[in-house]
Amino acid sequence: MGVENLSELPPREIKDIDIIQGGMGIGVSWYKLAGAVAAEGAMGVISGTVIGPVLARRLQEGDPNGLMREALKAFPDQEISGRIIERYYSEEGHKDNFPYKSVPMFNIDSSGYALELNMVGAFVEVWLAKHIASEKSKNPGPIGMNLLTKLQAPTLSALYGAMLAGVDCIIMGAGIPHDIPEQLNNLVLGKEARLRFDVTGSKQNHYITFNPENYPNLLNKVYHEKLKRPTFLAIVASNTLAKRLSNKDCPPNGFIIEGPTAGGHNAPPRDKVNYGDRDIVDIDEIAELERPFWLAGGYDHPQKVEEAKKKGANGVQVGTAFAICEDSGISPQLKKKIIEEIMNDGIEVVTDMLASPTGFPFKVVQLSGTISESDVLKNRQKVCDLGFLREAYVSGISEDGKEIINYRCASEPEKDYIKKGGNLEDTVGRTCLCNALMATIELGQTHHGKKEDPIVTAGDTLNDITRRLVSIYGKDISAKDVVMYLRGN
Ligand SMILES: Cc1cc2nc3c(=O)[nH]c(=O)nc-3n(C[C@H](O)[C@H](O)[C@H](O)COP(=O)(O)O)c2cc1C
Repeated sequence: MGVENLSELPPREIKDIDIIQGGMGIGVSWYKLAGAVAAEGAMGVISGTVIGPVLARRLQEGDPNGLMREALKAFPDQEISGRIIERYYSEEGHKDNFPYKSVPMFNIDSSGYALELNMVGAFVEVWLAKHIASEKSKNPGPIGMNLLTKLQAPTLSALYGAMLAGVDCIIMGAGIPHDIPEQLNNLVLGKEARLRFDVTGSKQNHYITFNPENYPNLLNKVYHEKLKRPTFLAIVASNTLAKRLSNKDCPPNGFIIEGPTAGGHNAPPRDKVNYGDRDIVDIDEIAELERPFWLAGGYDHPQKVEEAKKKGANGVQVGTAFAICEDSGISPQLKKKIIEEIMNDGIEVVTDMLASPTGFPFKVVQLSGTISESDVLKNRQKVCDLGFLREAYVSGISEDGKEIINYRCASEPEKDYIKKGGNLEDTVGRTCLCNALMATIELGQTHHGKKEDPIVTAGDTLNDITRRLVSIYGKDISAKDVVMYLRGN
């Protein structure tokens, strides 16, 4: 691929970015989408969520365009990337209806192998996005990585992998990312990073740690290549939280203010049932914090972009419009079906309070053949084999007084969940987002000869924005079209 030395590219300041293409997991905002967006001078954001299994499965699919292996060749420790190729790459590809190889699950003391796969997965994604952007443009926008705060165990290794590839920005919501700015500082200095690890029922403090010194080959190269500290933007849905984070000793560099119409997970309503006035963020107060900020959730119209800027925002973050474009990772058949249904009768988007095992509301597109249909959900044989959304809990006390930690997920088989002290009510209506979202990007697992069914998330403006884009660009909408549209060009 073209540009070899990324540090030679002229820098674009993140505060000058008008449009951020929001991070969309799993694999919806992949390197191809983020690279295409950054080529237009906007910020492309890859999703770092479940990124290890994504890499492992793409390699098993035979890596037809060779890009995974090209990026793996650029990883600064070839022993590590070699191990991953050896374990997962299959020249002849993956046979339909056969299961993909399993990957190690994360926990408080994740195996070196789980950490390596995750770190390299994040590296590959950022590296490719940067290279695609710099091949298409002499002055591309930055590349960011999005992670969900709630998924604590994989966070630090993904951050480090993305930093090795020169990620410009980290964006995190779905939980309160208190500690991330400080941990980014530690990682850039090659020091151990640590994050508080939530354990239900715990009376002790638990932490996950990641120490770059455990990777001496990387550390040497890192110093050599001058690792940089990415900008950190926190996604928030309240003034109180923005103020609290802003007052910390090590605050975020800026904020994404996301409203409840946005695709993906949403912040729960203040009254726990319906969104109302108390959920509206006072933008003037945000502006008073004097940090850069972007508005998200339905800001997918050129007038809304202008409106955001008038309110003092640096720009907007948009997801749904990019999710339906041809550069996104969603399966082309699903996108086609969504666009066709919208152009016929329209499609419903529901804020589902139960679907996500995280307990956060999750937007679900009501599309036949997906988990949004109750029969499809009912017929799924429950299994928890990726485990990214598992909740850690105290299952006992060891002889030396330490808490013993075990893991459960409200979407695993009920009898297992209950045996682990979970409540039956918590399992009602839950979907296995790990497996369903992998199916949405055509990397669904096969269990007992049956392929996992997909689930599609999108924001409340799905119908409107799709119709507007189709009326201008036809049904094949590119990421570039979306950026041009938002800029009013
Ligand atoms: C398909 C899809 C997946 C998403 N996944 C994530 C995610 O993994 N993490 C996250 O912070 N936000 C996620 N979002 C939210 C977007 O990053 C963005 O903030 C939001 O879509 C903006 O609102 P809009 O959908 O009205 O444009 C997702 C949105 C969509 C449409």
